[in-house]
Amino acid sequence: MSVLAASGCSGIQSALEPAGAEAEAVARLFWVMVVAGGLIWCAVIGTLVYATRQRRRVYGEHAAGLLILWGGALFPALLLALLLGYALWLMPNVRPWIAQAEPAGLRIEVEGEQFWWRVRYHPPNGPPVDAANEIRLPVGERVEFALTSSDVIHSFWIPVLGGKMDMIPGRTNRLTLQAAKAGTYRGPCTEFCGTSHALMAFSVVVMEPDNFRAWLADQAGTSQSARAPGHDLFIAHGCAACHVVKGTEARGAVGPDLSHVGSRETLGAGILPVSTETIASFIRDPDVIKPGSQMPAFRMLPEADIAAIAAYLEGLE
Ligand code: CUA
Repeated sequence: MSVLAASGCSGIQSALEPAGAEAEAVARLFWVMVVAGGLIWCAVIGTLVYATRQRRRVYGEHAAGLLILWGGALFPALLLALLLGYALWLMPNVRPWIAQAEPAGLRIEVEGEQFWWRVRYHPPNGPPVDAANEIRLPVGERVEFALTSSDVIHSFWIPVLGGKMDMIPGRTNRLTLQAAKAGTYRGPCTEFCGTSHALMAFSVVVMEPDNFRAWLADQAGTSQSARAPGHDLFIAHGCAACHVVKGTEARGAVGPDLSHVGSRETLGAGILPVSTETIASFIRDPDVIKPGSQMPAFRMLPEADIAAIAAYLEGLE
């Protein structure tokens, strides 16, 4: 839980510390609105203070009418129209430099689940690659996200890269993002989706394009330790009914793909660091760590078996 607490609203998840063009537009809009709103507030309060300090006197009907017309109708309407125009101009489909940009090469399908993320990479040439609970992106390249959900409405948001987009069952929403800075960030689910909504997040790793391609090729393959001792216990205790480990007989598609779970930044969709201890505790008590999780608890297994399975999974890099 400490990862969650420590990451709260720090830079890795701040829309005001953008690492991409979309988020920069959002941050700029925020600051323009703050400054414009602040100036208007100062003008209104200034006028109020000025009025209370004036000696009372009678104004002509004409002067009062002019004040209401300009101060009460024309000025606010003009200013709001200007700010609205600016906000509309920042919309992704309107901005000329976005409309003219190259189409995205990489497409990533993300599906909201209770309470985790199913991720499938579609590189421009090559077969799709499945993963879960973590999104890796090449820096400087436009990436198209195809967002949907299998159960209830979730919402996908990488604050440092751009605006949020709902994930709606039976519908695919599209969002294009381009990261400008390599680094490790965080994305939360931003639509209430059940008891563990607040425990549904993912890590975002923005890599140099060459590193990204090497990583993706690696993800497509089998993990080196896929034949560690815990593997047979993983199969024997039924874990393979719900989880995939590429290159083994584990082909269950209900839960997250665990093929390279040991190399991910987090465990349990953005909430725990990856270690044999955290993996063991998740196997034992998924319903305690993530209330409402659909994974059954395996606390009846012998501790030695849990430890062996955890060591096996931690080794899947
Ligand atoms: Cu998924 Cu909130």
